This record gives sequence, structure tokens and C-alpha cells, in this order.
Amino acid sequence: MASTLKWLEQNDANLIGDLAKLVAVQSISTDGEHQKEIDQSAAVTCDLMRSAGLDKVEILKTGNSNPYAYGEWLGAPGKPTIFLYAHHDVQPINYVADWKSEPWTLTERDGRLYGRGAADDKGAIVTQLGAIASYLKTKGTLPVNIKMLVEGEEEVGSSNLHGFFVENKQRLMSDVIVVCDTGNVETGLPCITYSLRGIVALHVEVQSATKPVHSGTGGGMMADAVIALNVLLSRFYSNHKKLPVPGLYDKVRKLTPPEKRAFRKLLPSDEKLRSDNGVLDGVELAIEKKSNAHEATWRNPSITVIAQEASSIKGASNQVLPTAQAIVSCRIVPDQEPEEVYEQIKAVLVKDPPWGVKVNVKPAGAVKWWMTNPEGPAFGAAMKALKKGFGVKPVAIGCGGSIGFVGPLAELFGGAPALLLGIEDPLSNAHAPNESLHAGDFRKLTASLTHLFDQIGTLPDGKVK
Ligand code: BES
Ligand code: MN
Repeated sequence: MASTLKWLEQNDANLIGDLAKLVAVQSISTDGEHQKEIDQSAAVTCDLMRSAGLDKVEILKTGNSNPYAYGEWLGAPGKPTIFLYAHHDVQPINYVADWKSEPWTLTERDGRLYGRGAADDKGAIVTQLGAIASYLKTKGTLPVNIKMLVEGEEEVGSSNLHGFFVENKQRLMSDVIVVCDTGNVETGLPCITYSLRGIVALHVEVQSATKPVHSGTGGGMMADAVIALNVLLSRFYSNHKKLPVPGLYDKVRKLTPPEKRAFRKLLPSDEKLRSDNGVLDGVELAIEKKSNAHEATWRNPSITVIAQEASSIKGASNQVLPTAQAIVSCRIVPDQEPEEVYEQIKAVLVKDPPWGVKVNVKPAGAVKWWMTNPEGPAFGAAMKALKKGFGVKPVAIGCGGSIGFVGPLAELFGGAPALLLGIEDPLSNAHAPNESLHAGDFRKLTASLTHLFDQIGTLPDGKVK
């Protein structure tokens, strides 16, 4: 191990340079306008894979998917095969003026590296490749086999990914899945994620008339579609209680007392939660009474209106608007069924519409939740590796975000254990302005992955579960 870790230290600046190369590519997948850059980030990822020493590096696609970068190293027959996952696409730059440095130029400030995609998820690509290179450049060999896939459409829901896995099952088949796209609840505290929420999204449209009407002649007489829509949306205001959606909690899995205790132990103060998340003075946290932030975001459903459209402020004119629409996004948890949640939320939206306006609800996407028992040889190996890499005892956590493919892939690989690790921390601002990763944690995660290869490679009889 000494030589691999030394290699990482000596090549620190190069690895950060690799991250800068990736961050420089504007691989935004959410607007459909950056296809060239997505192709380019896949190509840069392939270049980095080749430099790290992976074999059979190539760009793969399925149907009209964005490009996947793929590389492998299969020189350890008889040893377990690790499937490594990360993604090379990123979120757009909203709130441009709020960025303190150029989003596409990796910039170091106070021990953090700023840039779009630095934490979500380009940093993860470089940590994985750093760990691979640390072995191949010093020993010419790895203690495990590696199959590494870097996706280009995670931020738009990975709609082709499962089909891609099924199509390439033989080629990708592995014993352990390592997904680097989550994070740590505290800077410097290594975390392994054992649950993810899912998503059920609904598009709701309200219609009151066939055309806009001058608000001087129609106001007071015509039903206002925007007010009607917002009356419907206000039904999701929970006021520190459970969401008022009949049936929504029927299948929510109860937290066990040990989980409750573990969550509470990891709970930051309200002050820290407020400052990490930029909550304004005087504004309450929306958490249910007697619950807490971890229970609320890791293991309870939540409803967020992620978009609303009627008329723009810029183009405002004196009209009673005839249509208004919104996307309602519900995070779902074990053991909720996406189809049932869709119907439950739809029922709230279509019930007794104000003024009898027409309400049209359509599905806008769904992702399953995932939960595993963080035990067994592979998890033990990950715990040891993180302990060595961070110098701190790791913890198992839940995650409020969604990574839809984890469950189905683990199943496809015959119940392979899935280890979810990542580089995000509470200050990462993923999806937001001034995204960053903590440079120290970036080094520690890279070292941890190096240790993970060693730990998995030396499991008795190669048994990972
Ligand atoms: N890296 C996130 C998942 C995540 C979120 C990890 C929060 C840790 C904390 C991932 O890139 C992501 O944003 N996923 C989407 C999935 C969606 C597009 C289906 C999400 O959770 O919204
Ligand atoms: Mn991500």
C-alpha cells in the first residue's frame, strides 16, 4: 500500500489538473443544447481512463443515449470484479451572477475546489481513476478486476441506463458495485449510503378559458387559472405535520430504534442546517414536529413544486390567464409504490377544483427508492477502507436524493452488494451556484478507493457477500 499512497501524494497536482480538464467541459445534460460538450466530456473521460492504464477504453451508446465512457482492467483472474460508476454530465448554471468564480474554471479557495460538476460528479471520476492509476503505475497490476462506466445523462434521469445494462449484461457483469455519486454528512466524516429516496413527478395543468382576456373586462368575472393552480398546490402545505395526502404514509417503512438513534447522533444543529442551506433569518425549517432533518429527508416522503409556469414577469400584461402549469415532485421512500403515490397525489390535485376549472395531470417521471442492509464482507471492506483513507470511523447514512439504477443493477448482477460513496459534503452546493468539493476529502476518498481495492482483493475466498 505504501507505494500506491505515495504515488497519490506525488501526483496530487496532476489529479487536480485532470479534474480541471473535466470541469472545463460544459457538459450540461438538462437543456438539450450541449450535445457537443457532452460528447467532449465523454472523450476527455476516455483519455483519462487510458492514461490511468485501463484497457479497452471506448465510448458506448444505446439507442439515442448520451455517450458512456467505458474502460476495464481484467488482469486479476479469480479475484472479484468491481463495477465503478460515476457520471460526466452536469447541471446548468442558474443564478449566473451568484458565482464567485468562473463555473467552468476549477478554482481553489480556502481548501475547496470550485466549479460546476466538481462535486457532482466529475470529482468522483478522478478519485476512481486516481485509485486505479496508483496501482497500475506503481505495481503494474491491481488486486481486483475493474469495469468502469461513466454515464452522460444522470442529471436527466438515466432513462437509457437500465436498458444499456441489460444489453451489455455479460460485458458489465461484476461482483461488487461501487457508485460514487453521494456524499458525506460532515466534511471529513466518511459515509457509506445505504438508502436512497425515489421520485414520483406529476405535471399539472389548469385551464379555465380558451384565451386570455383583458383583466379590466374579465377580472372579477373570469376564473383565474393561476390562482386556481395555486389553490391546488397549497394543499401540499404541511405546516409541521404529515403531508395531507390520503394514503401517502400507509406503506412508509418505520425506522427501527437503532436507526433512529444513529440518525440522531449524526444530526447537525439547527444553526448549522440553516447556514449550510442558506435559510433566511425568521424562516422556519419545514420539518414535522418531533421529527428531525435526517428522518425528514432520508426516510420520509416530501413534496416539492420544482416548476411553475403561467406568464413571465418580463412579459406581464393585464390579462386574466387561461392556463397555468406546474411540476410537482414527490420524493418517495421504502416501501412506497410509485404508481400508488402518483394516484394519491393526483387525487389531491383533481379534487373539487376552484371555480370548476379543468385540471389535467400527467406523469412526469418516476424513480424507485433503494435500501440495503449495510453488512457483509463488501461493506466491511468499505468500512475498513474508508477508515484508513480518512483516519476517522465511517458511518452508514441515508440519502434524500435519488439514483434510480442502483436497485435494478444490483438485481441484474445477481444480488451484488452496492457500495455508495462520494465526495459531496454539506458545503458542496451541488446543482447550485458555487459548487465545490473539499480538496482534503477528495484526497481522502481517492486513498480510500485505493484501500478498497486492496480490501476487496484480500477478502477470504474472494467472497463479497
Ligand atoms: N448526486 C445526486 C444524488 C444525490 C443527491 C446524492 C443528494 C447525495 C445527495 C444525483 O446526481 C442527482 O441529483 N440525482 C437526481 C436524480 C434524478 C435526476 C432522477 C436527483 O436526486 O434529483
Ligand atoms: Mn450526481
